[in-house]
Amino acid sequence: MANPPVFVDPSLAHDDDPSRRDVILIAAGAFAAIGGAAVLWPLLDQMNPDASTLSLATTEVDVSPIEEGQAITVMWRGKPIFIRHRTAKEIEEAKAAEIDDLIDPLARNANLPDDAPATDENRAASEHEKWLVMIGICTHLGCIPQGQAPGQYKGEYGGWFCPCHGSQYDTAGRVRIGPAPENLYIPPYIFASDTKITIG
Ligand code: FES
Repeated sequence: MANPPVFVDPSLAHDDDPSRRDVILIAAGAFAAIGGAAVLWPLLDQMNPDASTLSLATTEVDVSPIEEGQAITVMWRGKPIFIRHRTAKEIEEAKAAEIDDLIDPLARNANLPDDAPATDENRAASEHEKWLVMIGICTHLGCIPQGQAPGQYKGEYGGWFCPCHGSQYDTAGRVRIGPAPENLYIPPYIFASDTKITIG
């Protein structure tokens, strides 16, 4: 049975009031900020659940209310999932990165082979390149990076910044400044339609 996402108000799909949207997005950002400032995610190995766990739960998300440049955080199996609607500039910057310049050259995408390179194409949603869907847990020691909420510092590469030890991620969620050793993980998910994502 699908778990409902948190921080996502379904009524927003038809809500044109930007202040109302902001409330929801700020709430999502506050979640990320609190986690980043004070919480080490307790079980790093949850990022690599065994096969028996993989079939247990899915989270369905309607992404239609998320405007370009906005992001939300939903929960999937107890983990924060970052969903960002990237701008054209963010996509362009992500595509411009050379694999040789990356700390982690692997895509870390559960939807692709383990050895898939960390190109933007392999990090973004298949056939929906403006969307980035990732497990929002820093691969260093498990903090929740900031960068989901409007106005939050996103690091030098415009993606996410982990306040615990300073790791920085780019607009494809690839680590560009350590100590994090690996890119943010991408969970198994599909676009069930143009506006609906099923995670898990
Ligand atoms: Fe993110 Fe250490 S936990 S940099």
